[in-house]
Amino acid sequence: MSSAALSLDRVKLQHRSRCPLLPNRSRGTLKITANARKEANAATGESGNPSFPSKKGSSTPASIIDRRELLAGTIAGGASLAASPTGPALAEPVGSPTFKRCQPANIANTNTFVACCPPKPKRDTIDFKPDTGPMRTRPAAHLVDEDYIQKYNEAYAKMRALPSDDPRSFRQQANVHCVYCNFGYRQEGDPKSTLQIHFNWLFLPWHRWYLYYHEKILGSLINDPTFALPFWNWDNQEGGSYIPEMFRREGTPIFDANRNEANYAPARVDLGYAPGVDPSFGEPTYKTDDQIRQDNISVMYNNVAKVKLRDAFFGAPIRYVKGNNNGADGSLEKAPHTAVHIFGGSPNNPNGEDLGNFYSAGKDPLFYCHHGNVDRMWDVWRSLGNQDFTDADYLNTEFLFFDENQDLVRVKVKDSIDNQTKLKYKYASMPQDKVWINYKPLPLAKTAFAQPKSSIVASLPVKVGAGPLTITVAQPKGSASDELLVLEEMVVGMQNNTNFNVFINLPEANETTTLSCAEYVGSFYNIPHFMPGMTESSTRTTNARFSIKPNVEILGLKDADKLVVTLVPRGKDKEKVFTFKGASIEYA
Ligand code: C2O
Repeated sequence: MSSAALSLDRVKLQHRSRCPLLPNRSRGTLKITANARKEANAATGESGNPSFPSKKGSSTPASIIDRRELLAGTIAGGASLAASPTGPALAEPVGSPTFKRCQPANIANTNTFVACCPPKPKRDTIDFKPDTGPMRTRPAAHLVDEDYIQKYNEAYAKMRALPSDDPRSFRQQANVHCVYCNFGYRQEGDPKSTLQIHFNWLFLPWHRWYLYYHEKILGSLINDPTFALPFWNWDNQEGGSYIPEMFRREGTPIFDANRNEANYAPARVDLGYAPGVDPSFGEPTYKTDDQIRQDNISVMYNNVAKVKLRDAFFGAPIRYVKGNNNGADGSLEKAPHTAVHIFGGSPNNPNGEDLGNFYSAGKDPLFYCHHGNVDRMWDVWRSLGNQDFTDADYLNTEFLFFDENQDLVRVKVKDSIDNQTKLKYKYASMPQDKVWINYKPLPLAKTAFAQPKSSIVASLPVKVGAGPLTITVAQPKGSASDELLVLEEMVVGMQNNTNFNVFINLPEANETTTLSCAEYVGSFYNIPHFMPGMTESSTRTTNARFSIKPNVEILGLKDADKLVVTLVPRGKDKEKVFTFKGASIEYA
């Protein structure tokens, strides 16, 4: 075990029911024991010091790591299974929010606390009953007429005029996002356990409920039970992909001054947006409008249309666990969702406020319009023949929201799934969805298998932060409805705007490489977020899954026994180090 190579120990992976939703899941059968840290660090010229030199403008990977058949994803025996962020099934839903013991939310690294706890309910909590009102059809924001805009503004004017301790007031509505997302609540039953509705399978249902009550309140304030929120149709490159014009009218109730005005039209929303990489930062290599348009279609295809596995789309399961729930974000949440948040927030504010940070995002009426489209993607994804989770822990997870009568309502995830029947709303159909659903990416590279230029041995964990990084991952034989590349036990600074794009078979990929190609498989984002007691260096641990099946097929790599994977960090935090402990291919 003293050689520079990672030692290899073939063991059979225990097929314990870590993920009962994946009966066909097949993983590698190898185990890695990493003990070559020193030698490997010598090989990369790293000293184990997490500060990395800048490789700005580099068009070749900073280092090439050939881990060949070593990578199979289980590290040090079963330890990584037990320590997995998704954890073993505990057969218990995440605990309900500790509504009565809400704490101020921590919003920044300086331990800045904001009071965003809800007012006390006037009456006993009630249980959700299916909506019996008329059907509400949510329109695309860029297609609404002036009558709609007037009504919509009137509803927000009334909401803003309510006393700030009224749970229906705009201030309290915005606070709902802050309190659920910046750890104002813990889990009932164990107040030491955090509750975070991002970065896991609760992301879509929680935001669906949030918008549902927000919409019902707006409708009741203007006595219009048919009132439906608009959605920002950012996936539609023919008119939808700009911050909708009605939100840019200064002085109206839906205007917010805390936005990145440089990203108003004619700037097209960039669904692969990297924080800090745009004309307002003087970035010289920013994409042309036509490039953004093409990349957007590819981002939609790669992060929504092609993704089959539920965990990969919605985010990984979280259940009741002691301690911090980390989970793993779904592809929709990472990009396009987080990219759009950061695109909209003001770069002049310390934490990207308003849209660019969880605690403040709800202060911009555009937030609810953005999330209308995020929510619509759930419907679109299901319309492609994909199935919702049926796991009882998911279905029975509970949240609390105030309704239009100021009653506090206990809702369950299961009642959010059938929005047309139980919540009585649907989305206007958008023929332009087809553009990205039917997108067929073409390969950029001519060679069938791109060979990395040199190879070294990795130390574990693998550090990324000094430019693009290429690894080689074993591709076991297998087939299933989805094939996934997994970066395991990624450790990301909670306060970093970590963003990277992932390419296969393109070791020369760099920051300016187009996303409009079969080699691009997906993007990772971290939106900075904070919690009580955290420090500058607090991290979250997550698995990042990228659906790669169609890409592998288009690239003719179905029978390759390894895949060359390149991670390209971007944006203002691209030099801040993140690590991962393994990479593997899964079939599910
Ligand atoms: Cu709760 Cu778009 O974030």
